[in-house]
Amino acid sequence: MDKKLYEEMNKQVQEEFYAAYLYLSMSNWLEDQNFGGFAQWMKAQAHEETEHAMKIRDFLIDVGQKVNLMPIAKVPTEFKSVLDCFEGALAHEKHVTSRINMLYGLAKDKKEYAAEVFLQWFVKEQVEEEKQTADAVAALKMVGESMGALLQLNKTYGKRD
Ligand code: FEO
Repeated sequence: MDKKLYEEMNKQVQEEFYAAYLYLSMSNWLEDQNFGGFAQWMKAQAHEETEHAMKIRDFLIDVGQKVNLMPIAKVPTEFKSVLDCFEGALAHEKHVTSRINMLYGLAKDKKEYAAEVFLQWFVKEQVEEEKQTADAVAALKMVGESMGALLQLNKTYGKRD
């Protein structure tokens, strides 16, 4: 496999685990603030991120590459509000999208067809990832300062498996 593509895909395993760590930290904070529903949503999101990391790890192994797990940076543990958490998650998803697009472009340029096809799933997934997080940010902005509406939304978001 092309060296640069390999290095960036290996790094993406770390990036996805970092996202899992970040969302789990948000979930912990939300739990502590008694927003169990939003905490559940973030925990499910953290779980999805570990699945993303494993998918890339498995692909690299399938094509005969070594996976070198890199250290995960410290994540924030304090947040200003529920909205702050979701805005942070959206900003992070945009960062991930830019990385996935870079990886896809690299696979195309280097004629790494297996990686190109594999990464298509992630390109599509990022559309969904950004949309669902942006929808949450929009809903939280609509709710504003109303605690009643926020608790109602908390209940709705807690329904995610
Ligand atoms: Fe793995 Fe939320 O992107």
